[in-house]
Amino acid sequence: MKEKILVVGGAGYLGAVLTDRLLKKGYPVRILDSFIYGKKAVEKYINNPSVEIIEGDIRNIETVNSSMVDMGSVVLLAAVVGDPASKARPEQTVETNYLASQVVASSAKISGIKRFIYASTCSVYGVGKDVLDETAPLNPVSLYARTKISSEESIMAIADSTFKPVIMRMSTLYGYSGRMRFDLVVNTMTMSAFTEGKITVFGGNQWRPLLSLYDAAEAYLKALAIDYHAGLPHGSPHGSPFGRIYNVGSEEQNYMITSVAELVAEGIKEASGKEIPVEIKGDSVDARDYRVSFKKIQNELGFNVSHTIPEAAKEIWGKLESKEIKDPKQKVYYNHYFDSSEELIG
Ligand SMILES: NC(=O)c1ccc[n+]([C@@H]2O[C@H](COP(=O)([O-])OP(=O)(O)OC[C@H]3O[C@@H](n4cnc5c(N)ncnc54)[C@H](O)[C@@H]3O)[C@@H](O)[C@H]2O)c1
Repeated sequence: MKEKILVVGGAGYLGAVLTDRLLKKGYPVRILDSFIYGKKAVEKYINNPSVEIIEGDIRNIETVNSSMVDMGSVVLLAAVVGDPASKARPEQTVETNYLASQVVASSAKISGIKRFIYASTCSVYGVGKDVLDETAPLNPVSLYARTKISSEESIMAIADSTFKPVIMRMSTLYGYSGRMRFDLVVNTMTMSAFTEGKITVFGGNQWRPLLSLYDAAEAYLKALAIDYHAGLPHGSPHGSPFGRIYNVGSEEQNYMITSVAELVAEGIKEASGKEIPVEIKGDSVDARDYRVSFKKIQNELGFNVSHTIPEAAKEIWGKLESKEIKDPKQKVYYNHYFDSSEELIG
């Protein structure tokens, strides 16, 4: 039997997909989540003996510590996620993304858990001119990104031969999940094509790395499979010989936002035969603009992507058309509302 994995934030957008992949690979999973956005994504596991579900908040030290018992590895996804959500609840963001994340990491270390994978974000780069690798200067433009950087630093500071964290700086995710989000660029565009018959792009020339959440889940499997006996490759940034930082994505999916809109329209055309117009307007309210290098994760972990934006748009369109997602405008699909009411309606 494989080691058990604690997925903290396992009921979230990525957590739901990662849990499925871990189970398919034969890992038993314990989910710790406070269910800010409801329990829909985990309902299907209620009678699954390979999944244990703990409802709890990582801001509670006792909950965190007890959830470590018998775990082989820990994946920390739980956070207040995205710039608008962090702006709406700044105290909760600092408590969760920074202070509680330190507690989770320290608790894992003291419990003797060597593998610790932390979900960070390419938003730590904020704005940058070159193609940015893991050693590039960080330039956060939001509280969300600042708390993620502080967390990275505090986790790396306790890395040693007994505790070997892997920091995953992920690109902006897209695709369908059992905990759906329509506040992510590809998903938003697909939704507005469905509800309004068009895609509106603000600005459009800003660069952003994109990544299918199915590919993201594969990257976590690669990180969980790192062979520590093989030693750490040279050139690991940020000083610690024990921790690793990876940008997670692919160079071919560094896109300008206008190209993202065109790819979404392409997927919808394949799904429905409809030609969706793309309208470009004014400036973007989102200051992020950066391109990222993914050579390190490709070279060290052999990570390559296999999913695309048109494919994701097609899948999400199908879920909307079939009414599997009844109303994509419900607050539960947007992190900044902190709403779980879909279950009451659904
Ligand atoms: N979605 C993206 O595009 C993206 C990109 C880069 C990095 N990330 C990172 O990946 C991780 C997962 O993101 P997501 O898109 O799945 O977000 P999400 O908001 O869908 O999931 C977060 C989960 O954490 C839980 N949670 C929040 N605060 C908690 C607390 N105090 N205690 C226990 N559980 C708590 C929520 O209930 C939710 O289920 C985050 O750390 C995020 O910063 C996401």
